[in-house]
Amino acid sequence: MDLRTALLSRASPGKLTEPAPDDAQLELMLEAAVCAPDHGRLAPWRFVVLRGAAREHLATAMENDLLARHAAATAEERAAERNKALRSPLLVVVAAALHEHPKVPLPEQVMATAAAVQNFWLQAHALGFGLMWKTGAAASSARVKAALALAPTDVIVGILHLGTVAVAGTPRPPSVAPVTRRL
Ligand SMILES: Cc1cc2nc3c(=O)[nH]c(=O)nc-3n(C[C@H](O)[C@H](O)[C@H](O)COP(=O)(O)O)c2cc1C
Repeated sequence: MDLRTALLSRASPGKLTEPAPDDAQLELMLEAAVCAPDHGRLAPWRFVVLRGAAREHLATAMENDLLARHAAATAEERAAERNKALRSPLLVVVAAALHEHPKVPLPEQVMATAAAVQNFWLQAHALGFGLMWKTGAAASSARVKAALALAPTDVIVGILHLGTVAVAGTPRPPSVAPVTRRL
């Protein structure tokens, strides 16, 4: 797939299923991710891969986090929260490990990590896989970070769901007119 086709046809799928990218395909995505623009080449990104049963770590942390926020959560709500981590065959949590730097402000370290996510996504798409970029309450949960062996100061930039597209998304038609001004 050429770059322009990849850029214009990318969309979030409605549902993902098996098979997920295998480890060799995942490696290609990670290689693309770490070529993202990165002020100071600090490589602030961290990738936590949760395949199959390993997703239970995140499911349990998300359920516990829900209970901490809503002690009265019902069994259905707890199951729904767990299912957020179990509904796609492969998850990759991408975090920015932030460190004070004399020339690279912390937000730029987050931006570089977001750029890495986009490279990762486009490579996944070009290989024929679907990806959903999620965050939600889990992304800022200390419990979730601890369960993934991330530092409390790390910023979770995305909980990426990967797999084969079962329900396709809708690419947006390219239109720059409303957001472009020429001075
Ligand atoms: C940083 C970031 C966080 C996001 N978090 C969520 C999320 O938690 N839940 C969700 O449904 N969409 C989330 N999205 C949006 C989707 O990933 C998706 O990109 C958006 O709905 C637009 O659809 P498209 O990808 O098909 O163009 C997030 C996007 C970004 C960039």
